[in-house]
Amino acid sequence: MRYAAGGRTLIEGLNLRLPHSGITMVMGPNGAGKSLLLRLLHGLILPAAGGIFWGDAPLDATARKAQAMVFQKPVLLRRSVTANVDFVLRPSDMSRRDALLRRVGLMDRAAQPARLLSGGEQQRLALARALATGPHLLFLDEPTASLDPASALMIEDILREERKRGTKIVCVTHDVGQARRLADDVVFLSQGRLVEHRAADAFFAAPEAPAARAYLEGRLTL
Ligand SMILES: Nc1ncnc2c1ncn2[C@@H]1O[C@H](COP(=O)(O)OP(=O)(O)O)[C@@H](O)[C@H]1O
Ligand SMILES: [Mg+2]
Repeated sequence: MRYAAGGRTLIEGLNLRLPHSGITMVMGPNGAGKSLLLRLLHGLILPAAGGIFWGDAPLDATARKAQAMVFQKPVLLRRSVTANVDFVLRPSDMSRRDALLRRVGLMDRAAQPARLLSGGEQQRLALARALATGPHLLFLDEPTASLDPASALMIEDILREERKRGTKIVCVTHDVGQARRLADDVVFLSQGRLVEHRAADAFFAAPEAPAARAYLEGRLTL
């Protein structure tokens, strides 16, 4: 797969076959193309050539029927916490709202304007809203980057529960500990290329690519 913008090739030769289930953690230094990859997966931008496979089938509009994305900076309505969840719930599903808010620990903030929430609470609200759509595919871009440890662990627990329900999760992280805790497989990117994609156990035991090894040891910044 190739993706170009502004006259530059930003993603090149990235041939990805995502497993059908489990949590795929996407890692790599700043500017590696992690956010672009998520946008390509979610269908927000289109590759210039090639595509992505989900199992044996192309990840196209049909495969992507039920998907949701949590952006690095939460995009919220300037309304109450509840209104943000209601906005995406089908009328027949309104009874799920309280359960969703409880699940992300925001029940006691329900009536407040979303913009008054802390960064961590906004991120949890964005996750609640993504879950409200009942996605089969869930994409998250550094969902815990600016969160305190308790909020981060709460989000990790929710992702584990979702995995158990059969939701396919693709999550970008800079947190090696988090990747070790959550990943079933790891996609490692550097400079717009797929450097390594392997089962998490094997990856963390001994990454094959020198760039991945350097990154895990804190020696790779590009
Ligand atoms: N719309 C765009 N036009 C030009 N360059 C872009 C655009 N979007 C991203 N880039 C560049 O592509 C590279 C990868 O970006 P990104 O996917 O955001 O990296 P990261 O791995 O940090 O999430 C960066 O060098 C970034 O500056
Ligand atoms: Mg990014």
